[in-house]
Amino acid sequence: MYPDYMEESIKKVESTRERRIKEIFTKLKTEEKEELLKNYHPDYKPGTVREIKIGVNKGDLVVNEIADILESYSYLNPENFRIKNIDYDVDVLIIGGGGAGVAAALSAYEYTNNILLVTKLRIGDANTVMAQGGIQSADKENDSPIIHYLDVIGGGGYKNIPNLVYALVSDGPKIIQWLEDLGVMFDKKEDGNMITIHGGGTSRKRMHTCKDYTGMEIMRVIRDEFLNKKINYLEFTCAIELLTDEDGKCCGAVLLNLENGKIIIVKSKVTILATGGAGRLHVQGFPTSNHYGATADGLVLAYRVGAKFIYLDTIQYHPTGVAFPEQMLGQLITEKVRSLGAQLVNYDGEQFIYPLETRDVVASAIIRECWKGKGVKTPSGYYGVWLDTPLIEILKGEGTIEKELPAMFRQFLRFGIDMRKKPVLTYPTQHYQNGGILINENCETNVLGLLVCGEVSGGVHGRNRLMGNSLLDILVFGRRAGKRAGELLKELPPIKNLTLNHLITYHEELKKIGVEENRKSPKILPDYRKEEFQQKFPFLINLLK
Ligand code: FUM
Repeated sequence: MYPDYMEESIKKVESTRERRIKEIFTKLKTEEKEELLKNYHPDYKPGTVREIKIGVNKGDLVVNEIADILESYSYLNPENFRIKNIDYDVDVLIIGGGGAGVAAALSAYEYTNNILLVTKLRIGDANTVMAQGGIQSADKENDSPIIHYLDVIGGGGYKNIPNLVYALVSDGPKIIQWLEDLGVMFDKKEDGNMITIHGGGTSRKRMHTCKDYTGMEIMRVIRDEFLNKKINYLEFTCAIELLTDEDGKCCGAVLLNLENGKIIIVKSKVTILATGGAGRLHVQGFPTSNHYGATADGLVLAYRVGAKFIYLDTIQYHPTGVAFPEQMLGQLITEKVRSLGAQLVNYDGEQFIYPLETRDVVASAIIRECWKGKGVKTPSGYYGVWLDTPLIEILKGEGTIEKELPAMFRQFLRFGIDMRKKPVLTYPTQHYQNGGILINENCETNVLGLLVCGEVSGGVHGRNRLMGNSLLDILVFGRRAGKRAGELLKELPPIKNLTLNHLITYHEELKKIGVEENRKSPKILPDYRKEEFQQKFPFLINLLK
């Protein structure tokens, strides 16, 4: 239910709807986009990034919240940490149980069954299941991986690493076929062909969908496949440090069992990091669409062993997070809603941006509208603009919302908002970590024995990812990481002693720059009871009572 004063703005939205249906809203020119980004995109806000003072990327700009966790001490003291027992001695250790980790396990399994996958929550508790709108793949007649490639590069601000984009788009059709063979229930037409739709910045309809829970459906199927293969795994167990041998090669990890506090030592020939994103760092105080465990642990672990990163000065804010009701703050309203015809309109019911511009551009336009005083204020003091969802029913026919967006329809209905009849209030939400650990097309890093895949890696999406390329990324690079791990089993030199030597120099550097010893990372889980969070989200105090 909306309060009365919000209903007044909704009346304006309703009064302009008829006219807006015929309104043609053109895309912005390149210079207009650049101007909009410079003035309103959160990445450009002064004081929100800083030079990292230690490690292999010393001097590079990093988002403050990420720099804070990189410039922190380990929970372990390398001077007095002794490895008495090796609890697991495996060929491949996979850290992370989302789509990338599970895909990696499935392809590594083609080479060895001596695999251990560890995840700090449960298998599938990851951003994969939060992905609603779809997975891109150029497998239709009017499309091709080359056109997909151009879209990805354009969306990424021409900063993408070409080899990685090539790998992403050329594996796309194989990935869809693989998922289809495993049993993913993609949306199909009556003739059996897959339905494909547009996303922001796509020049062809290549988004394959499973209603508005595409990631959930993909995870359901690949998790089943993983469980059927009886691959070893540990849940509620996180990695707090990687291990290196005397040559600096990655050779396993120190794990923490979150249920009983026990330390577990894993020796592994190859380690694959697939720990996901950073949404729960709440960069610049933004709410997030990410799952509870998205605290950027992998960045910390990899950086400490000397892995290089790229583009950690940019974050993706999904244009349409929920702005009201506050219980849903930051949750994703999939881009598919705009793809189905919903327009973005301000307090006065006027459109202000072509709805399927790339995400960075749409998010900036929404922020501009709110700064200009054309946003709608919520009872807790947040701002948002309307996403005119009733238009979908007018344009695509009655029943479309329930059919195409069943999960979201129910979510809003729980709070008395019927999105078939009333628009929904939206504002950008922290959604994706554009940058990450630098990899090549086989997911190798500059550290021997350490492979990285999924959101924790960087480079493929440049400085702005397009919708539907994350689900594709985790599966393409997850599978490539598993394959490369299998191949490396025969290529890597033997492991010498397991050490935490890398921490000695890292800690020394931290001391030199004056970091206090009580600053520790990885964060593992966000703690919303802490004052730092309550300052960012004052309404939490009421919700926690
Ligand atoms: O809007 C969405 O459904 C999000 C998808 C994505 O980030 O790929």
